[in-house]
Amino acid sequence: LKTLPEIYDGFAATYDQNRNLFDMTDVIRNFFSGLGTGSGHLLDLGCGAGEPFARFFIEHGWQVTGVDFSRQMLELAARYVPQMQSVFSDMRDIHFKPNQFDAITAVYSLFHVPRADHRALFDRIFRFLKPGGRFLFTYATKQYTGQDTFEGYMDFMGEQLFYSHKTPQELHADLKDTGFLILADIYRNIGSETFLWITAGKPGETT
Ligand SMILES: C[S@@+](CC[C@H](N)C(=O)[O-])C[C@H]1O[C@@H](n2cnc3c(N)ncnc32)[C@H](O)[C@@H]1O
Repeated sequence: LKTLPEIYDGFAATYDQNRNLFDMTDVIRNFFSGLGTGSGHLLDLGCGAGEPFARFFIEHGWQVTGVDFSRQMLELAARYVPQMQSVFSDMRDIHFKPNQFDAITAVYSLFHVPRADHRALFDRIFRFLKPGGRFLFTYATKQYTGQDTFEGYMDFMGEQLFYSHKTPQELHADLKDTGFLILADIYRNIGSETFLWITAGKPGETT
């Protein structure tokens, strides 16, 4: 089996043909309007080609840092969204100072991280967020994998990709143990795939 970075490096080659297949306008506008600050700093985990999230935030005057472990995806991002500062890393290994970011996103990426590592990742994300900051991510559930909990491989665009998830109840418990408030929890069907979209907030006032 190929590793995820190898697979996404391969996807980058045909990315142009599949651009705009997923219309996320609603999700982005919804999340963006809930952020108190006019502009700020976004950390986008698994940013891929920097679309559509990084691009949207940059166009709205934000500073964006994108993290991805596929070099080819980051090369596309450098072309499409040159203003994004990119970090070539596994999202589980990133280090930033505490209280750095007004928003953190993990759009269609966190479900590739083994569930045993979710809690530690949430702890980091919580630390990196400013008080009052928000974290939006896509979570796989039974609606996608067919099972209450899942860890294994599923076919996506002709490749076997690793996915992992707990139950939504266990996810909620992890987020609450971390200190997050769960602000929104919505199943969305986009491009005929249903995922759970969670917005979690770090308690405190936005500055
Ligand atoms: C389905 S793409 C989504 C890209 C983008 N967020 C979007 O909405 O189009 C998933 C991305 O997450 C990246 N990714 C998956 N697991 C990762 C990890 N542990 N660390 C960093 N990047 C990861 C992949 O390389 C890929 O670019």
